[in-house]
Amino acid sequence: MGEIKFFSGEQIPLEMHKVRVVQKLNLLPVEERQKAMAAAGNNTFLLRNDDVYLDMLTDSGVNAMSDRQVAAMMIADDSYAGSATFYRLEAKVHELFGTKYFLPAHQGRACESILAEAFVKPGDVVPMNFHFTTSKAHVTRVGGRVEELVIDEGLCPVSDFLFKGNIDLDKLRECIARNGAEHIPFIRLEAGTNLIGGQPFSLENMNATAAIAKENGIPVVLDASLLQDNLYFIKTREAACRDMSIRDITLAMSKNADIIYFSARKLGFARGGGIAMTNSTYYERMKDFIPLFEGFLTYGGMSVREMEAMTVGLEETMDETVISQGPQFIAFMASELQKRGVPVVTPAGGLGCHVNAREFLSHVDAHAYPAASLAAAVYIAGGVRGMERGTLSEQREPDGTEPIASMELLRLALPRRVFTMSQVLYAVDRIGWLYENRKLIGGLNFVEEPATLRFFFGRLEPIGDWQLRLVEKFREDFGESL
Ligand code: F0G
Repeated sequence: MGEIKFFSGEQIPLEMHKVRVVQKLNLLPVEERQKAMAAAGNNTFLLRNDDVYLDMLTDSGVNAMSDRQVAAMMIADDSYAGSATFYRLEAKVHELFGTKYFLPAHQGRACESILAEAFVKPGDVVPMNFHFTTSKAHVTRVGGRVEELVIDEGLCPVSDFLFKGNIDLDKLRECIARNGAEHIPFIRLEAGTNLIGGQPFSLENMNATAAIAKENGIPVVLDASLLQDNLYFIKTREAACRDMSIRDITLAMSKNADIIYFSARKLGFARGGGIAMTNSTYYERMKDFIPLFEGFLTYGGMSVREMEAMTVGLEETMDETVISQGPQFIAFMASELQKRGVPVVTPAGGLGCHVNAREFLSHVDAHAYPAASLAAAVYIAGGVRGMERGTLSEQREPDGTEPIASMELLRLALPRRVFTMSQVLYAVDRIGWLYENRKLIGGLNFVEEPATLRFFFGRLEPIGDWQLRLVEKFREDFGESL
């Protein structure tokens, strides 16, 4: 996406691609949307996609693929062992990251599971800029603990700080001194920090973090799932990197990481994952888990067609025009929402547009899940499916108490190159309407609460009849419109 000026002076992100394959969408009437939401236990994960107009649940595995990716799928080499497809992927990973060993895995959380099994012992602490749901679940599953060391600005929803995913270096030094380096198996740095609004860290901060890690003999693990957004932000926001190519920045980041893993459902516009490194001891320590849990070492549970697409997708990630589409569309959506008074996370990050549900629904109690309530309301109002990223996505403490998330967000993901400008404006319009009518929206209660990763399958019900009143108001304001 270029920096293309409009004569009108309007700032409009312009697509540098065209649509060549389309999927028909359904938009149900509002009454049916309300029923579908109830049938899904007020959990947007449990909606059927046929009942969804704009699926903004996630950017995971649903990004548009390029013609070249689809073409590459046709030359995939189907073989259990020694597939030429694997060697093409492996070579691309090493070319971009400057690594020597690559372990394929079926998706990001498989990499996290293997890292936890291979490195984390009971009582260990894994410092992170911020946790991701599955990364934390795997560390705690094997008896470890997570400490979040993101800078304080990272948790301020409204800010003009450009690198809200940075690690606080003083907190890191203190964490190492308090726990002892021997109890820290690795430091995990998450590019494009997911749960705080897709916020990047700077190369400068990563260099400094890696220097501290090295002084203390602690490996650095980079979660590169959202690397493409972070690369774009380093290129456009970090003065010292302005003249570096995306490829140079990728290599400079990789130099700071002992192990790099990624979900290729995000990085590489395909579906899969992998772990790359240069240290042979780490490779040997993790290798055996691949044939045990994933698949043979030359496919790791992935389809060869996806692997071919990923190889091309990784190369396309080095093209600034390609990786700018997501952040530019997100910034556009965030600014349109702001014009309507809707509180959003700023600066706009990667992955999606993040609405601050704590402020949007300040009258809804924190234990009545404001972000999940807003997710249900946005679906009812527009058939738009977002994802709760707040207290509901947290795990209960072992004693059963429910921690309140530091941020209570409704994430409206913009899978890359999938939605058009008018679809984004439609979502903005419906959310703007909800904001005008926010006092109609109430909270939710659990009916069925799973013990782990409860946000995936948990079922909830509205407190009171607010959803029916929302439907009535919709009919009043929109008449016969869908
Ligand atoms: N790390 C990050 C930063 C992620 O965002 C995700 C997935 C994973 C690891 C796990 O990867 O899904 O391939 O197993 N995020 C998805 C999301 C699920 O919707 O944000 P996975």
